[in-house]
Amino acid sequence: MKTRIILPDTDGISEAGAILRSGGLVAFPTETVYGLGANALDATATKHIYEAKGRPSDNPMIVHVANIDMLNGVASGVTDAQKAIMSKLWPGPITFVLHKNPAVPDVTTGGLDTVAVRWPSRREAAEIIEAAGVPIAAPSANLSGKPSPTTFEDVAEDMDGRIDAIVKGERTAIGIESTVLDLTSEVPTILRPGFITKSQIEEAVDGEVQYDPSLFKKPGADDFHPKSPGMKYKHYAPKAAVRIVEGSKSAVSAAIAELETEAVSNNMKTAVLDYMGNGDKAANNFFADLRQCDRDGVDIIYIAAYDWDEVGFSVMNRMVKSAGYDIVNV
Ligand code: TXA
Ligand code: MG
Repeated sequence: MKTRIILPDTDGISEAGAILRSGGLVAFPTETVYGLGANALDATATKHIYEAKGRPSDNPMIVHVANIDMLNGVASGVTDAQKAIMSKLWPGPITFVLHKNPAVPDVTTGGLDTVAVRWPSRREAAEIIEAAGVPIAAPSANLSGKPSPTTFEDVAEDMDGRIDAIVKGERTAIGIESTVLDLTSEVPTILRPGFITKSQIEEAVDGEVQYDPSLFKKPGADDFHPKSPGMKYKHYAPKAAVRIVEGSKSAVSAAIAELETEAVSNNMKTAVLDYMGNGDKAANNFFADLRQCDRDGVDIIYIAAYDWDEVGFSVMNRMVKSAGYDIVNV
């Protein structure tokens, strides 16, 4: 398949919308990461997403909307309380799990009776969804298991020849995927941490918010039952081995220096990712840095972990998975 490169000008936006409306696959930038979109109401189109990504088909997709009518077309029984929360945090990098409207095919939601919905804020994304005129199912536009794409080049690397078109925009502003918040449970529950943090959600909810307990467990543990199916898969893995070194700033620096010396003496090419405890910066660079390490032929990556703020917690969730839970405490 020849993949078209589309620029996000007026003509490009309507072309992208037309391809999506007619059942094609288009990757496009959002404020979080690039997404791989298809018409969420078209079972054949969404099935093609699983094929293009090589993704297990029980992993449900996020449905992207750009207006209230689209929201009402994919969710059902949305309460005033839920609407109030959504209106405070949308458009933006947060996804809400709601009761599913029967119009959404099972293949889009992995057979669940809930649907994950996001109204993105990035201009290109909102305009493409409006131009398509249908809600758009869009997981991150990477091959399954690889780091999520934050640049056009990342998407092209994984998807060229596999999808109809890629909308070429600037690098994404946030760099990690949206927060996933379940609004169907009694207490709103964070299923996947993201750029919108627990305290921001508590303010919008004006009440209690909890984390899915599985966020603090390892896959394989008896009590690991994530409510978000995607959280159980191996994720974000570069070709290099990844090791997290956690502790006080000075202890971490000293330990990494020692580990690097040893690795280099074994002829391994090393890289160190140290975001100085700055969560926003870590979010912005982490996936891009993993992909760069692969391009550079790095064998082992050390991640310095200390002083994380709230967004830092969300990035750490990805880091831990990329490291296959290899964490050294110093
Ligand atoms: O920022 C983002 O969310 C990006 C951009 C493209 O919008 N999309 C994204 O999609 O990260 P994806 O497919 O890579 O991740 C979707 C996550 C998975 O962990 C999936 O299991 C979860 O959302 N999810 C989807 N539907 C769900 C549902 N009904 N209940 C619980 N979790 C759900
Ligand atoms: Mg993904």
